[in-house]
Amino acid sequence: MDHVKFTAMKDGDKEDYDYLTEHEVEYTKGTADRLLTALVSLDESLSGYQVTRLGHSLQSATRAERDGADTDWVVSALLHDIGDIFAPYNHDEYAAAILKPFVREQCTWVVEKHGDFQMVYYGEHVGADPEKRQAYAGHKYFQDCADFCERWDQSSFDPDYDTLPLEHFRARVHEVFARDPYNPKVLRAGAREPLVTNR
Ligand SMILES: [Fe+2]
Ligand SMILES: [Fe+2]
Repeated sequence: MDHVKFTAMKDGDKEDYDYLTEHEVEYTKGTADRLLTALVSLDESLSGYQVTRLGHSLQSATRAERDGADTDWVVSALLHDIGDIFAPYNHDEYAAAILKPFVREQCTWVVEKHGDFQMVYYGEHVGADPEKRQAYAGHKYFQDCADFCERWDQSSFDPDYDTLPLEHFRARVHEVFARDPYNPKVLRAGAREPLVTNR
């Protein structure tokens, strides 16, 4: 069998769906490498900044690592703008959707909201509300998102910063996407891990 028997999903039988499940499991194992390849393609994306989008992603992750943040944070920092490729108007939500099954809820929330929080730095120059973040005032992860943006996102456009290469983060990305998806022990709803441990 090298493909299913049906041409409409409702006609499939157990053998067909067992076969597809097996395929899906194999395909899923390649997620980490596909994401790393996608990050490289960010290098060619329109930037206008002094660093490429890949350079920005790597610099964010490097700063996270140097702050002593854990793997969930470092990988979230690395991938926080990966949505720029296909979802320029909601790149934050797109990245969060990729991370959601595999990292702490705290990190997913921060990545999902980082676009709104970033407005404080430039909203006034683009006709957007700089205080968009106030919609989340009092949220348990509010300060984490504020810190993420201040320390790792808005600051990571410096061409002279000693940024680590993509290879440096490869093992961490593989570790995260090899996790059991939606495992409550990984998601740890409500738990807050510090962004900075080596102050
Ligand atoms: Fe972003
Ligand atoms: Fe960013």
